[in-house]
Amino acid sequence: MAQYVPEPFRIKMVEPIRLISRAEREAALKEAGYNVFGLRSDDIYIDLLTDSGTSAMSQAQWAAMIEGDEAYAGARSYHRFKAVMDEIFGFKHFVPTHQGRAAENILAAIMLKDGQYIPSNMHFDTTEGIIRAKGGRPTNLVRAEAFQPKERVEFKGNMDLAKLDAFIEEKGPENIPFGMITVTNNAGGGQPVSMENLKAVSKVYRKYNIPFIIDACRFAENAYFIKLREPGYENKTILEIVQEMFSLADGATMSAKKDGIANIGGFLAMNDEDFYNQARNELILREGFPTYGGMAGRDLDAIAVGFKEAMEEPYLEYRLAQTTYLGESLLEIGVPIIEPPGAHAIYIDAGQLLPHIPNTEFPGLALSSAMYIEGGIRAVELGSVAFAYQDPDSGEWVHPALEMVRMAIPRRVYTQSHMDYIVDTLRKIVENADQFKGFSITYQPKLMRHFTAQFKPL
Ligand code: F0G
Repeated sequence: MAQYVPEPFRIKMVEPIRLISRAEREAALKEAGYNVFGLRSDDIYIDLLTDSGTSAMSQAQWAAMIEGDEAYAGARSYHRFKAVMDEIFGFKHFVPTHQGRAAENILAAIMLKDGQYIPSNMHFDTTEGIIRAKGGRPTNLVRAEAFQPKERVEFKGNMDLAKLDAFIEEKGPENIPFGMITVTNNAGGGQPVSMENLKAVSKVYRKYNIPFIIDACRFAENAYFIKLREPGYENKTILEIVQEMFSLADGATMSAKKDGIANIGGFLAMNDEDFYNQARNELILREGFPTYGGMAGRDLDAIAVGFKEAMEEPYLEYRLAQTTYLGESLLEIGVPIIEPPGAHAIYIDAGQLLPHIPNTEFPGLALSSAMYIEGGIRAVELGSVAFAYQDPDSGEWVHPALEMVRMAIPRRVYTQSHMDYIVDTLRKIVENADQFKGFSITYQPKLMRHFTAQFKPL
């Protein structure tokens, strides 16, 4: 049996959930155009759509919110937030934003021109969409093992350094306004990036004078993997590891809805003064005044506390253990997942589980539909619905290497028996795997179609 680590907290406020009947679930999914984003949360039993903004705040975070200072400019909340930002991330400047994509939008507005390339290990959906919306070319250069689900390597989110160097040479550094890396690699199984790789990536970008921006959403989880797996880091604190990670970069985008353990928030951080001045102006246009950006003062306080809680080792130990428990339990019953488990989610290899459904008929969507119908569980397709795109040069559809369904685990929200329930639901699905059918699209927007597309069963 998979190992577990008891929760390092007890529960003093509860949010009821209910499992509606199978007939009601079938009707709800049909009504939603077979897109789980269209479901009402009341109709969901276990919601694994995302770990973003869905985590449970602590009593310390709620208490800090009461002290929020809502002054338009120069609020105490801002200064408390800034002190934590300076200590943890250490960039010279930052602007607070209402979530991660607002930071990405400001970055793209300032730096990115039509036809330019943005390399990363892998971009997540909003980053990719924002780059494409500006006419840019997001390019994924993660190591090859990332696409081999069964390959258990320790830092499967690492950039392929040779590919990165060759890519910059081929496209020309003048056509690459900034380079990124995502920690942990959300589009590729939530896999971590090693410090060694971050150092090497930083060196490559610096060699070509390309600003290096870290997509920092799950920085604390990434640092914990470094502590557990990378020689030389076992005796360092998470804070020390995080500080070293960000000392290698020129800036960062952050969604505090992840490792800020908050319901909203984010930032764009940088060292360059000129970049900061431009970001501040964009912020005022798009979000708000620089001492609150897109947030209320109380949100800044919740995040300032959340960043620190996200780096506590008993919490990180439990967090990784819970996700690993789910992943290993699924492997035991024959569900193929991206191995080894990451910290924020388990990714089922739907292409492998439902090999009779071709990627043009969306095996991931077939699986996420089955999970909802069978158990009231909401998980998100991260395969051809989310990531296939039409090549701007050839007009051909390019499909991703893997057809995945992600079960993201909100922080401090579900218990071990919820994990067991998920495993039991998937056991029933595995038994009938050959019966599930694919889908066709009846409506899709041009960009980020997975959020609003409509489908019909084949
Ligand atoms: N970067 C990464 C790696 C992300 O995972 C996300 C969001 C963003 C940027 C954008 O942040 O949502 O605050 O605007 N990911 C969520 C998810 C939505 O479900 O993984 P945002």
